Amino acid sequence: MKQHRTLHLHLPDENATLAFGKRLAHAMDKIAEKTAPASNIIFYLTGELGAGKTTLVRSIFRGLGYEGVIKSPTYTLVESYQLNSINSITKTAETEKTTKASETTEMTGITKIVGDGDGALTIHHFDFYRIQDPKELEFIGLAEYFNNKHTICFIEWPERAAEVLPPPDLILKITILDEGREIEMISESQKGENILEGFL
Ligand SMILES: Nc1ncnc2c1ncn2[C@@H]1O[C@H](COP(=O)(O)OP(=O)(O)OP(=O)(O)O)[C@@H](O)[C@H]1O
Ligand SMILES: [Mg+2]
Repeated sequence: MKQHRTLHLHLPDENATLAFGKRLAHAMDKIAEKTAPASNIIFYLTGELGAGKTTLVRSIFRGLGYEGVIKSPTYTLVESYQLNSINSITKTAETEKTTKASETTEMTGITKIVGDGDGALTIHHFDFYRIQDPKELEFIGLAEYFNNKHTICFIEWPERAAEVLPPPDLILKITILDEGREIEMISESQKGENILEGFL
């Protein structure tokens, strides 16, 4: 059954955003056995330029145990990471043709991950800010990112590609305030609701 529940939080400064991301990672970790390996989880991150969407995704990755470089996908559209088990994510090398868990193919500079791998979890971080027309996305083969089990997708600027994206499980909506930010977590599916439950 489709769930819609909203949780509001005030994040007074950047450290509060970082702490929130870690707490959300912990909630995902808690429900991972129930939800993550078996299905694709889709997060939409909304909010104006500089609201803190990338900062938040980075802090979630840190919370999941990733210590390497986390690039903003503003120019590449997508950056992908492998999570062999929770607490061990490795960046998918952009020039690598094959990885242990999945096959990658190069398409106009974008690394596309095909296949589920051997139970490994793949995380895709998208930023569609530069997309003017969702048709521009046809060439990346979006369906292969989303019709995949064992995948978590974080999507910045989903509104730029709305008609070609699957619906979200959880929306993270950030609003810039005079002091800090407000974040709303909106669950849009049972999976999203499970994560919200884990968060509380
Ligand atoms: N709770 C907060 N209060 C005040 N400033 C914050 C807070 N959280 C993050 N910031 C700051 O806001 C900025 C957010 O930048 P970030 O690149 O994450 O935004 P973004 O939403 O991804 O933007 P874009 O749409 O350009 O990708 C950073 O400078 C960060 O320090
Ligand atoms: Mg960003």
